[in-house]
Amino acid sequence: MGDEGAVMATNDDASECKRGAVQLGYWTDNYISYFVRHMEKRAPEINRGYYARVKGVDTFVQKFINRAGSNAQVVNFGAGFDTLYWRLKDEGVAISCYVELDFPTVTAKKCYTIKKNKPLLDRIYQQDGEVKYSSTDMHSGNFHCLGVDLRQIKQLQEKLTQADIRFDKPTLFLAECVLVYIESDWASRLLKWLSSTFSRALFINYEMCHMNDTFGNIMAANLRARGCFLSGLSYCKSLESQRGRFLDSGWTGAKAWDMVEVYHSLDPKERDRIEKIEFLDEQELLLQLFQHYCICIGYMGEEYGDFELN
Ligand SMILES: C[S@@+](CC[C@H](N)C(=O)[O-])C[C@H]1O[C@@H](n2cnc3c(N)ncnc32)[C@H](O)[C@@H]1O
Repeated sequence: MGDEGAVMATNDDASECKRGAVQLGYWTDNYISYFVRHMEKRAPEINRGYYARVKGVDTFVQKFINRAGSNAQVVNFGAGFDTLYWRLKDEGVAISCYVELDFPTVTAKKCYTIKKNKPLLDRIYQQDGEVKYSSTDMHSGNFHCLGVDLRQIKQLQEKLTQADIRFDKPTLFLAECVLVYIESDWASRLLKWLSSTFSRALFINYEMCHMNDTFGNIMAANLRARGCFLSGLSYCKSLESQRGRFLDSGWTGAKAWDMVEVYHSLDPKERDRIEKIEFLDEQELLLQLFQHYCICIGYMGEEYGDFELN
């Protein structure tokens, strides 16, 4: 990996973009503003891109939860300042164990913010339960925010054990723009370890695809200029390569859709609503962005093999 600082900074960027889009009314998130104070105005294409990303990922999260019921466990890789835990809590969704993992520098900031903000803390606090903190880790009831380098499988295993993750329960793994920052071999090792350890699992991976063309090269060059190397780019060539990495790593099956397909699968009324928030005079750029990101799901066992976009 190139500079870890630059990789961690991608979380600030993603969180600022999400906060900006939430502020404009693209979707509701009552918690992101606790984690992000600073905000810059982004182009309408970026806001629509984030809308599709959040809603697309939510689609599969909901499908998983509906199928898995209260036994569901969630492991969010490279969670950054993601707020899904709190949003699910507000919806009354019961999760048996929810684990967020990121570099210790990022989890330290997240734990600190949770501690300082009562609305965040109240929702992870379990009655009669104890909140255990270290500078980088936090355990409270079913919620765990833990610092680890995802390339260190042994440490990862220890962290998941500390969080009381059960290897036999239905488990959702999330990675939103994370694997692309990890060298391909290390990411494959992670996927192989997961497939050999969990028998009932769904992995939702959101990241780049079609990165071999001119637009993709420009995207990668822009990130490189900010010191951020896309070490896992070899799996981002196509939907086929995204699916292939799961199949080659022992997963039962995998499916992938680019964000053009994902966007058009979303509720037409909602799309209509958000398309009125900001005027987009250049449809071509949005199309290019949508063509260069995808959602790929990998599944272990047959429980989630019938999941489709709709
Ligand atoms: C683009 S941000 C995405 C954050 C969050 N998933 C979201 O979508 O809002 C990528 C995150 O992955 C984390 N990350 C990348 N490589 C990692 C590694 N080897 N170990 C732990 N975290 C990693 C970064 O620190 C960062 O928080």
